[in-house]
Amino acid sequence: MRFVTPIIKVQNLRKVYRVGKEKVIALNDICLEIGEGEMCCIVGSSGSGKSTLLNQLAGLEKPTKGRVLIGKHDVSAMSENELAEFRQQHLGFIFQSYNLLPALTATENVALPLMFKGMPKKQREKIARAELKKMGLLARAKHKPTEMSGGQQQRVGIARAFAAKPKVIFADEPTGNLDSNTSRQVLYTMLEMAKEYGITFVMVTHERELANCGDRIVTIKDGRVLENVLLSDTEKEQNRRQLFGDLVSGDIAEPETTVTEDETPKNKKHAAPQKEQTADVRQAGGKPQAEKPPAGAQRAAGKPAAPPAAAQPAETVQQAKTPQEAQTKSV
Ligand SMILES: Nc1ncnc2c1ncn2[C@@H]1O[C@H](COP(=O)(O)OP(=O)(O)OP(=O)(O)O)[C@@H](O)[C@H]1O
Ligand SMILES: [Mg+2]
Repeated sequence: MRFVTPIIKVQNLRKVYRVGKEKVIALNDICLEIGEGEMCCIVGSSGSGKSTLLNQLAGLEKPTKGRVLIGKHDVSAMSENELAEFRQQHLGFIFQSYNLLPALTATENVALPLMFKGMPKKQREKIARAELKKMGLLARAKHKPTEMSGGQQQRVGIARAFAAKPKVIFADEPTGNLDSNTSRQVLYTMLEMAKEYGITFVMVTHERELANCGDRIVTIKDGRVLENVLLSDTEKEQNRRQLFGDLVSGDIAEPETTVTEDETPKNKKHAAPQKEQTADVRQAGGKPQAEKPPAGAQRAAGKPAAPPAAAQPAETVQQAKTPQEAQTKSV
């Protein structure tokens, strides 16, 4: 039996939202430990509380009751300023809605968390390009979010989360906008990077097949932990072989659709020759990037996901273990 020191401890976590006169018990008495360096996958049906749990773990929302500890830090007791600082220094996020800054290029977006760490521009852009390359996006280094597909924006978001090599990365459906093959590749790359950098990776996913490649699978139902399974090495190896099959280490394939302006059909060559592209970015220096974080940067690096459009209060309250208590306790 393997023993891993827990890096995240969740104690009796409860989150209740008020919607008009109704209460939605999104999380109810969650207790959980996640080991350092683990890949923990959170699964469950829509509305079960996965994103809410992730947001509490990452200190993006305050719990109604209970505690979240990351290392020795009581995240639930921190002030907003302390939380912002803690998130910038130790946590990375991959959001369902990307949260990229529209005015910045892919490189600048990925480099943003490094700016918060005070790294000089040249160095952080070098790291940003290396992360984009792993995600198969060096050819899009100078593109702004609106000039990229949804899946490409999602990969920029992933590159941004890994760039600063945080202690923990929280990811909400990080492959939700990718086709199944790219999704496998991206997941494989994330898994490899997390292991290489020793990052604890907490991922919400709808897809059981993807969750099976994790070290731990936590199933949420109606705001409670239904199951918390730590997979054996044999199970993991088998699941990963089944999911990743023939994939090998390496960068994700670059898109072949980028051509230089003066290119004629005759001398057409592969887009994004990586050395030239890198040089281009260096020469151009990207957009003039202020050393002060651009507007919205803090939010982009750690803003909670937008609340879902349709709440399901009746069902959630009904499923609570102690409905009377749930109805009467103040939030
Ligand atoms: N800000 C909010 N205000 C009110 N209710 C909310 C809020 N955020 C979440 N909820 C409710 O809490 C419950 C859990 O929502 P959550 O977003 O965590 O679900 P989820 O498991 O992530 O679902 P999905 O798989 O669809 O993303 C739902 O019933 C939802 O409607
Ligand atoms: Mg969700």
